[in-house]
Amino acid sequence: MGIHYQASCEGITAEQLVGFFTHWRNPRTATEHLEILRGSDYVVLALDERDGRVVGFVTALTDGVQAAFIPLLEVLPDYRGRGIGSELMRRVLGLLSDLTAIDLTCRPELQTFYARFGMQPSVGAVLRNY
Ligand SMILES: CC(C)(COP(=O)(O)OP(=O)(O)OC[C@H]1O[C@@H](n2cnc3c(N)ncnc32)[C@H](O)[C@@H]1OP(=O)(O)O)[C@@H](O)C(=O)NCCC(=O)NCCS
Repeated sequence: MGIHYQASCEGITAEQLVGFFTHWRNPRTATEHLEILRGSDYVVLALDERDGRVVGFVTALTDGVQAAFIPLLEVLPDYRGRGIGSELMRRVLGLLSDLTAIDLTCRPELQTFYARFGMQPSVGAVLRNY
């Protein structure tokens, strides 16, 4: 299966953004998803070359000097386990390679996944306004 990666959401439509956030309590709509992509400092998208669907994405926010945060990484269930999530991470970390601090939050079981990219387990605090 051919996967095309791109570091821009230019030209992407909401119709290409179907099937994400299904594990969320209040899933974002495709239109909101597009707003999230447009509002992020960096995005990397994985598209299925057969139909142009977005099948994975990662976003990053940054101050441009010191720090960046990676709020979202998701691959559609049918496309998981084929290296797409890893490729998205490699590409977004490449875009952020001049920065000192790159943070994300994750469930403990995913810490070994992120360790593949040199990321270390950490602790933090979050506020969630559900
Ligand atoms: C995490 C995620 C992005 C990985 O995408 P992917 O395309 O399957 O990633 P890859 O194929 O490159 O790597 C798969 C690896 O992910 C890790 N992984 C994925 N889900 C995991 C889980 N629930 N628990 C532990 N490890 C997990 C495994 O190490 C797996 O390794 P394997 O292929 O050797 O079994 C994908 O599972 C996903 O979208 N999950 C739901 C959303 C999510 O949890 N995002 C992360 C937010 S911090």
